[in-house]
Amino acid sequence: MSDFSFEPTGRIFKERAALLEEWTPDTLVGRDQELQQYHAALQPVIEAETPSNIFLYGKSGVGKTAATRFLLDQLEDSAADVDRVDLHTVEINCDGLNSSYQTAVALVNELRDPANQISNTGYPQASVYQFLFNELDKLGGTILVVLDEVDHIEDNSLLYKLPRARSNGDITTARLGVIGISNDLSFRNQLSSKVRSSLCEKEVSFSAYDATELMKVLRQRVSVAFNDDVLDDGVIEMCAAYGAKDSGDARQALDLLLETGDIARERNAEQVSEEHVREARERLQTDQVIEGISNYSLHGQLVLWALTLLEEQDETPARTRDIRGPYEQLCDREGTDPVSDRAVREYLAELETLGIINSTEINRGKGGGKFKKHKLNQSTSSVKAGLKELIGTIA
Ligand SMILES: Nc1ncnc2c1ncn2[C@@H]1O[C@H](COP(=O)(O)OP(=O)(O)OP(=O)(O)O)[C@@H](O)[C@H]1O
Ligand SMILES: [Mg+2]
Repeated sequence: MSDFSFEPTGRIFKERAALLEEWTPDTLVGRDQELQQYHAALQPVIEAETPSNIFLYGKSGVGKTAATRFLLDQLEDSAADVDRVDLHTVEINCDGLNSSYQTAVALVNELRDPANQISNTGYPQASVYQFLFNELDKLGGTILVVLDEVDHIEDNSLLYKLPRARSNGDITTARLGVIGISNDLSFRNQLSSKVRSSLCEKEVSFSAYDATELMKVLRQRVSVAFNDDVLDDGVIEMCAAYGAKDSGDARQALDLLLETGDIARERNAEQVSEEHVREARERLQTDQVIEGISNYSLHGQLVLWALTLLEEQDETPARTRDIRGPYEQLCDREGTDPVSDRAVREYLAELETLGIINSTEINRGKGGGKFKKHKLNQSTSSVKAGLKELIGTIA
């Protein structure tokens, strides 16, 4: 190609933005059971009763944030027609806030007008809480505070104080409900029983999406995002099937569909095909490998490379000690000394957590001992492509 001028083609996409994270659909499909439970937990608000504190949990990308925005919008609309209900909602994401103190400051600032904000440091914790309670009482009516990704708050103090603010007399006029959201499945169990009993009065668990549900999610976007009839039969099914198999995460399934469309456009294709889906999946997996291990030490990468070599020779699942041989050869090539068996085991455990490899424990009972066997969880070609980008010398 020698002509690098740009021309809009209008190919493939009608509104590509409909596949991006920020795009909010008008309705949520495939979450009937979750929405029903969540709706019931919010019902006291419209009855002008004290709201329940609600805790939502479920893996990443299963619609917790989307369901919250959707139902709170509905609730605000409905509340506008009910005289006795004066509803306010405040949503903050706790990612990056880390402590009760910082979260309380963020809430105060969210409730105050821009001219009257407080800084992130310099006040005793008790004063920040007092500011917060004052703001809540000043606002009055019914207030729902959403703490999204609440597991990022490392101490329990706010999670103890806020849900009990009214019963402890810290606020008197406002009716307050806290909605906590988390994708860290162990977070709830780590809470002290006192915090749990108030924060998790009502719980709604979001399950991973199955392929049928993901098809509904994808179909909803396809009509907005793509030109009419540009998707071959089977494209949506394939994205949904991969999505359900990989993680049941709608965000990932939407990413796959987006990448698929991008590839079709790059190729100047008239239609989006299943082949484009396969290619997109390879690319995304490679990105996942690179993202997962790019901060790794060279040795972590060499351990993965050694396992990839065994996989290519059909010698997986492989025991840790079988990985040792090819790993040492690779160290030799790279001119570096191998790390201990224990360090290799730690790398393997991390690679499993990242979803790049799959490890199963074999227990041979008395005398036979316990050991792990490992194999790649992603295609060898995508792992190789990722490794190649990181370790240039490996072909
Ligand atoms: N049922 C659905 N219908 C339409 N779009 C959905 C649905 N569920 C999720 N999505 C979309 O998938 C993406 C991820 O959903 P969401 O942000 O709600 O996940 P989450 O459960 O909050 O994940 P995390 O724990 O990572 O924050 C968003 O772009 C959202 O709009
Ligand atoms: Mg979320």
